[in-house]
Amino acid sequence: MLETKRFLSVGLALLGLGVPAPARAGEIFIQNPADFVLPFIGTTDGGHVFPGATLPHGMVKAGMDTNSPGNQAGYDADPQFDAIGFSQMHDSGTGGSASLSNFKIWPFASCPSFTKCPTDLFNRAVPRKLLPDGSPDDVASPGYFASNLSTDIRVELTTTRRTALHRYTFPVNSSQPRLLVDITDDGLQSGFEVTMDLDPSTGRVTGGAFFEGSFGPGDYQAFTCVDFRGDGYNFSGPTEYGSWFFNTVTQNATDLDGVFDGSAGALLTFPRSPPSANGTTSILVRVGVSFISSAQACASAEEEIPDWDFDRVRSDALDQWNELLRRVQINPTGVDTETVQLFYSSLYRTHIVPADYTGDNPKWNSTEPYYDSYYCNWDTFRTLYPLYSLHDPSRFALITRAMIDIWRFEGWLPECRGATVQQWVQGGSNADPILGEFFVKYHDQAASLNVSVSDLYNALVTDSESEPDDWDLQGRQANVWVQFDYVPDELFIDFQGTPTRQASRTLEYAFGDFAISQVAKILNKTDDAAEFVKRANGSFNLWNPAVSLPGFPSVTGFIQLKNSEGVFDQPTDPRHCSVNDPTHSTCFLDASNHDGFYESSPTVYSQFVPHDVAQLIIFQGGQEAFIERLNIIFNQSYFDVTDEPSQQIPFMYHYANRPGLSTKQSRQVLTESYNTSVNGLPGNDDSGAMGSFAVFLLAGLYPVPATRQYLLSSPFFPSISFFNPLFNSTTTIIANNWGGSSVYVSNVTVNGSPWPSTCFLDWSHFSASTDTTIELTLTDDDSLGCGDTSDALPPSLSTGGFD
Ligand SMILES: *[C@@H]1O[C@H](CO)[C@@H](O)[C@H](O)[C@H]1NC(C)=O
Ligand SMILES: *[C@@H]1O[C@H](CO)[C@@H](O)[C@H](O)[C@H]1NC(C)=O
Ligand SMILES: *[C@@H]1O[C@H](CO)[C@@H](O)[C@H](O)[C@H]1NC(C)=O
Ligand SMILES: *[C@@H]1O[C@H](CO)[C@@H](O)[C@H](O)[C@H]1NC(C)=O
Ligand SMILES: *[C@@H]1O[C@H](CO)[C@@H](O)[C@H](O)[C@H]1NC(C)=O
Ligand SMILES: *[C@@H]1O[C@H](CO)[C@@H](O)[C@H](O)[C@H]1NC(C)=O
Ligand SMILES: *[C@@H]1O[C@H](CO)[C@@H](O)[C@H](O)[C@H]1NC(C)=O
Ligand SMILES: *[C@@H]1O[C@H](CO)[C@@H](O)[C@H](O)[C@H]1NC(C)=O
Ligand SMILES: *[C@@H]1O[C@H](CO)[C@@H](O)[C@H](O)[C@H]1NC(C)=O
Ligand SMILES: *[C@@H]1O[C@H](CO)[C@@H](O)[C@H](O)[C@H]1NC(C)=O
Ligand SMILES: *[C@@H]1O[C@H](CO)[C@@H](O)[C@H](O)[C@H]1NC(C)=O
Ligand SMILES: *[C@@H]1O[C@H](CO)[C@@H](O)[C@H](O)[C@H]1NC(C)=O
Repeated sequence: MLETKRFLSVGLALLGLGVPAPARAGEIFIQNPADFVLPFIGTTDGGHVFPGATLPHGMVKAGMDTNSPGNQAGYDADPQFDAIGFSQMHDSGTGGSASLSNFKIWPFASCPSFTKCPTDLFNRAVPRKLLPDGSPDDVASPGYFASNLSTDIRVELTTTRRTALHRYTFPVNSSQPRLLVDITDDGLQSGFEVTMDLDPSTGRVTGGAFFEGSFGPGDYQAFTCVDFRGDGYNFSGPTEYGSWFFNTVTQNATDLDGVFDGSAGALLTFPRSPPSANGTTSILVRVGVSFISSAQACASAEEEIPDWDFDRVRSDALDQWNELLRRVQINPTGVDTETVQLFYSSLYRTHIVPADYTGDNPKWNSTEPYYDSYYCNWDTFRTLYPLYSLHDPSRFALITRAMIDIWRFEGWLPECRGATVQQWVQGGSNADPILGEFFVKYHDQAASLNVSVSDLYNALVTDSESEPDDWDLQGRQANVWVQFDYVPDELFIDFQGTPTRQASRTLEYAFGDFAISQVAKILNKTDDAAEFVKRANGSFNLWNPAVSLPGFPSVTGFIQLKNSEGVFDQPTDPRHCSVNDPTHSTCFLDASNHDGFYESSPTVYSQFVPHDVAQLIIFQGGQEAFIERLNIIFNQSYFDVTDEPSQQIPFMYHYANRPGLSTKQSRQVLTESYNTSVNGLPGNDDSGAMGSFAVFLLAGLYPVPATRQYLLSSPFFPSISFFNPLFNSTTTIIANNWGGSSVYVSNVTVNGSPWPSTCFLDWSHFSASTDTTIELTLTDDDSLGCGDTSDALPPSLSTGGFD
């Protein structure tokens, strides 16, 4: 029957009826994937995506800042919010409060006079021009951002790694083009201990300040170096200059002496260009930044953009993006353009952060790479790094080395670091599954990638077993974890003496220790591996079989809080923190968080044992009951697409031998929750966590971090391939019989040989030194299982899967 269908579809293709012919393995369909990237997806209504100009993982991310309350990444696509500056550094998709957004540049076309420019952050705000459809006249593509302000000034931005190049084109009637440099107003307007120096002969402005971290208690220092040039004409320097403090302009001042904090910076007037055909005047602004010194900011700027060639910088940036995105190819035949755009835009957003601050680490001297903007590993460990494993191993190695270097100098691996400061830990020490992911996939290449294996392992063991003074900022509450193999609900001593997140931390510590066990096993540390596997099973120490979901008596058994005597003494309603919670709790991290669960319900957390779903199924009453529970999680809206703890749930039917239900559910999640509009994201993008989730859903894959397992469904494309530059090989997944309702996998072959499972692929399929072709046969029958043999179900710890 299946064979008949397959021939039928090929026949239809030959007849030109729109069903694509099978693709050739490794074929390049899309030479310039950057053309399909829509950077404005998720830039309003809480997505907090950064749409400005950056290189992949660039330190400088130049973009527009708006006066929106949702300006975590500066920008808001909603035109009711005005522009207030064009700043140099941002994060992307984060919660917390607005981070970075330092050193805004701002153009004035026509102030009444030099001293009457409205310099203050909020006074200077102006609307953007609107397009006929009412949206702002803003344009963005990888490495480039542009906007037309209502003052008739056009702004364009592009970047190298540590330097931004801005181009301000002033209107014909602007007789005094002026540019403001804002030293103090980061996203939090928190600058203090300000320094500034303006050179009247050239206009160069250098300076810096201390700024507050956005999701934690620390401060950081940042510096800038700003130079100006005419675009297509020469000027020797400013015709007027001075400093400003809120709305007071002091002409001829070259510093901010006497200013400790508050809105402040420099203001300069430049000569117009000689009359040109169109009469406009364009001024280039080159902005270097540094966490070390102004001198360093100047040196980076001079080194990276000596030629002031805007088009050259922009085209180099675009080339870097295309080279990276091209590694993942989809066959777009028969696929609507919006799905192609959704795919490459999601992939693009997985490479904005972590940011490469190498050479700009103010905290210690090291020859190792320095990456920052892990905001937070709690969000990204599930899908971001397993995606890097498929197509960007060298970058993954650099980030791994940077994390290990943080352990060397600060004692523990980073968790939610931003702008060089430690920020609040949300749950476990989630660099552990990230390093576990790297090592399980790339242990054979670790030495050639300059990853120190002994330091990697020691860093993991430190996280697991050594308790830092403040486990709210790094590490774990390790002492009780090692003693009890769960976090007892009353033995807390956190920074505020608050009992918090004991159950969800237990589950995350357990998964972290599972990841460490996999590293220990590869290193032949047999005793360690056994000990970490034992601790990984600690998840089930909090399993209380006596609790049921209100309204659904058959859904019985939940993760619950337990005290150090082993008593479940604080029952938590499984609806708590969900949309069905009668008390409407949210469980966000704040000073008064007294919840045992973080940002998700006990119903969601009771599914979070990625390393042993087989055991979970037994605890939840067997396959039928497990499937019924998953159905209820979806049809009663316990599944929460806005938060990462739910991410594996659509694929969990696989473990109960019903992959068709996973396919149905995961496709529904993608089509209902993601689109290409400015509010096309279900909540914060979380530093690429939601982008990488979308990439996997569209690819028909879902990873189990720190294992060799990729759960398998069908792609939204007739084929998808991943080129791995380290192996110099491509893995192509070809979906035969693709199209229409034919979305369920009925057969899998690898390089022509049968593979025993339709439910998962193995890392060996992605790591060969020669190309690999995986052919799926699709059907419209959702009732098929994973296969007939005993190894068809995806591995779990208790079924011997990861031995
Ligand atoms: C801004 O105006 C210029 C000149 O009219 C136009 O070329 C450009 O497309 C507009 N939009 C942006 C975002 O630059
Ligand atoms: C320049 O022209 C714009 C309209 O294009 C107008 O809004 C603005 O007031 C003019 N400025 C001056 C100084 O004439
Ligand atoms: C600007 O000055 C530089 C060096 O002084 C010169 O090489 C260049 O030709 C000048 N450009 C214009 C447009 O006058
Ligand atoms: C600023 O300096 C210029 C040149 O020395 C001078 O002509 C002008 O009067 C000064 N302005 C103020 C406000 O001091
Ligand atoms: C105006 O003319 C300048 C110089 O010829 C050119 O660089 C610029 O692109 C032109 N701007 C517009 C909006 O046409
Ligand atoms: C790094 O080395 C330089 C040059 O020796 C020194 O000036 C600087 O203070 C060092 N930085 C740190 C953070 O140790
Ligand atoms: C590893 O380190 C060596 C020696 O410092 C260097 O030559 C090589 O380029 C490095 N390789 C990578 C991948 O960083
Ligand atoms: C672990 O043991 C296996 C089998 O003896 C061996 O092939 C492998 O090289 C060992 N690995 C390490 C890191 O020692
Ligand atoms: C939800 O799923 C359960 C379990 O499969 C089923 O009994 C129930 O009818 C479903 N409810 C809705 C509203 O679909
Ligand atoms: C990578 O593989 C291709 C063939 O697929 C080959 O032409 C090329 O030389 C290889 N590159 C390297 C660096 O080995
Ligand atoms: C899958 O297809 C291959 C190649 O046609 C065949 O050998 C194998 O038996 C099929 N497997 C199943 C489970 O149908
Ligand atoms: C994990 O713990 C559960 C419950 O405590 C137990 O039934 C199971 O056998 C344990 N699994 C392993 C692999 O130790």
